[in-house]
Amino acid sequence: MTILVIGKQGQLALCLGAAGHKDVVCLGRPEVDLADETLLARVLNMVTPKIVINAGAYTSVDGAESDAENAFALNRAGPAALARLCAARGIPLIHISTDCVFDGEKAGPYEPDDEARPLSVYGESKWQGEEAVRQLCPQHLIVRVSWVFSEYAHNFVRTLLHLARTRDELTVVEDQVGYPTYCPDIAEGLLTMAAAAVQPGFAAWGTYHLAGMDETDRASMADAIFAASRHLGGPSARVIGVPTSDYPTPAKRPLNARLASTTTFLTFGIRLPDWKTRLEHSVRVLTSDLAAAPAAEPKR
Ligand SMILES: NC(=O)c1ccc[n+]([C@@H]2O[C@H](COP(=O)([O-])OP(=O)(O)OC[C@H]3O[C@@H](n4cnc5c(N)ncnc54)[C@H](OP(=O)(O)O)[C@@H]3O)[C@@H](O)[C@H]2O)c1
Repeated sequence: MTILVIGKQGQLALCLGAAGHKDVVCLGRPEVDLADETLLARVLNMVTPKIVINAGAYTSVDGAESDAENAFALNRAGPAALARLCAARGIPLIHISTDCVFDGEKAGPYEPDDEARPLSVYGESKWQGEEAVRQLCPQHLIVRVSWVFSEYAHNFVRTLLHLARTRDELTVVEDQVGYPTYCPDIAEGLLTMAAAAVQPGFAAWGTYHLAGMDETDRASMADAIFAASRHLGGPSARVIGVPTSDYPTPAKRPLNARLASTTTFLTFGIRLPDWKTRLEHSVRVLTSDLAAAPAAEPKR
């Protein structure tokens, strides 16, 4: 069965491609574009997938604040077109979403059916994309992920290691909590969900969370990254924890980004491992990548 992944160079698309599943076909721009419905239709007709995973999105959370038109084009209109095209062909759609649909005010981890109250343009665009998929493609799995890291593409681990090459101290927020999740584990989980969804009689369509279960805050995660890097002889910096109120960014982020994945376990039997067991591998690959690239300026 062919599993068509929309996206090719992004973190999740790379992990889905690297998962070694012989049936996965990853297509990104220019072969496929979420902003081009005709191209999407042509690709679906050519590939005739058994199921589609949409790993493509406008993902710059801060960038979306001043680029709402493009954020909504890729995160709402694109998934809406894809959902319509999939439904017309009887193809199930797995659509990836985010913790940023929530405001982070809840005391505990978010359940899939908790009320969405996005704080940012990015979060609002992703929420409206979810709603479009729900309305237009009955055979959908909307899968929210958060705090995704890996040795692939851009993510928090790569950014911090990169910055530590030229800085001795880094300011990191200490009051945003979440469940860091290793992207190759998400990819494996999505492929398990895809395999279940194409079985005859599958009926558990709906919204799910796919995240780890080990809580941390951003500053503590940064400490763990640098501890692993120091151990491997890589770059590290002293982490100065600050409240979010002292670290203004264009987009507001939820202070609580914890996604409860219990229903994903009960429905699909998926439980993701502790992120700390995955961190060393990512740091090892990234530090050796960074060692090969010159730092922009010497460390102060
Ligand atoms: N990273 C996180 O921490 C995080 C957290 C919560 C939710 N998510 C969600 O997880 C999903 C995957 O994110 P990621 O971390 O893999 O992001 P990423 O590394 O920024 O990758 C973005 C992906 O979007 C694709 N894309 C961009 N514009 C496109 C267009 N016009 N048409 C088709 N594809 C387009 C890119 O494809 P090509 O460059 O190959 O064309 C790329 O594969 C997204 O839905 C994101 O909202 C991520």
